[in-house]
Amino acid sequence: MRAQAVLDAATLESLLAAAVAAPSIHNTQPWRFRLDPDTQVLQVRSAPERTLPLADPVHRAQYLSVGAAVFNLRLAAVHWGWRPEVRLLPDPNDPGLLAAVRLADPLRADERRSDPGLYEAIQRRHTSRMPFTGRPVPEPVLAEMTTAAHAAGARLHLPDYGGTRRLLRLTAAAEERGQVHPDRAAETRSWITAPGADTPYGIPVTALGPPDAGRRLPMRDFTGPLPGVHRPAVWFERHVQLALLWTTHDRRQDWLRAGQALQYVLLTATAHGVRTSLMHQAMEWPDLRAAAVLARHKRCHPQMLIRFGYGPEGPRTPRRDLGLSKGTGL
Ligand SMILES: Cc1cc2nc3c(=O)[nH]c(=O)nc-3n(C[C@H](O)[C@H](O)[C@H](O)COP(=O)(O)O)c2cc1C
Repeated sequence: MRAQAVLDAATLESLLAAAVAAPSIHNTQPWRFRLDPDTQVLQVRSAPERTLPLADPVHRAQYLSVGAAVFNLRLAAVHWGWRPEVRLLPDPNDPGLLAAVRLADPLRADERRSDPGLYEAIQRRHTSRMPFTGRPVPEPVLAEMTTAAHAAGARLHLPDYGGTRRLLRLTAAAEERGQVHPDRAAETRSWITAPGADTPYGIPVTALGPPDAGRRLPMRDFTGPLPGVHRPAVWFERHVQLALLWTTHDRRQDWLRAGQALQYVLLTATAHGVRTSLMHQAMEWPDLRAAAVLARHKRCHPQMLIRFGYGPEGPRTPRRDLGLSKGTGL
């Protein structure tokens, strides 16, 4: 029997650094990693203390976030010469175990087909909540984004003008509901951090964007009117480019797949210099999410609305430092 190659600590740290660079709802980073040194299985677990009981009661957004981290982990594993074997929800008796990634086999030289552009995009991708220029993203890039979603088990719909308006209307309705619901608004606000705050979670107030002076783009208002913080409205792009990520089923494993697809799409865009931001508001209200269904598809479960285009890079947001040692839960 061939001896198992051993994953060294430096590689493991690189893999985890890639995983946690993933986007997560409100930057909750709702994941935990645990390595079994004997089997070299990296467990990806949910972090139940970092959930959003009001915005995400069934944890769909948490699964999307964890799925995005799993995708980064896969990409990084291949980059560092390992063959990742991913099992989603591997143990029905352990619902907190969302994925198991086995890193037992180094890739042969002829199998190392990692895409350097995508791997590098992991650390370059940041949510950009600023206005974009409106310059259309070229068709071949859109095709790559669509193919990426498909390859990861989801679908990407690029709406026309009417479809875009419809999705923006639903998002605006959700945004309005979120703002007038005091507990929902408070939950969202509790994840916004002041400049210099000593916490690795949440979104620094400096990473938020301005409201749209044209009132066409319902960007999420994370804070409401905050004393001492006034963000003047500015004009956003007139030609809004959106993509709706959807799946054909809506089970827990589909949410994890959708998260991987989301990250594949975001990294593909980033590798081409395209900025992205996420507009998840309508997905958080069952009736509005149902209204976002694409009528011509018999089974369509909307998972995420992605806004994309050219514009300023988003700022880096904090991540929890992993300070890893083998066999330790993180
Ligand atoms: C499931 C999910 C939902 C999100 N919803 C929104 C949203 O509605 N509005 C927004 O501005 N950002 C949204 N984000 C982006 C997160 O706020 C962002 O990923 C997080 O703050 C980390 O920042 P980064 O993406 O720049 O790394 C969402 C991310 C995920 C994974």
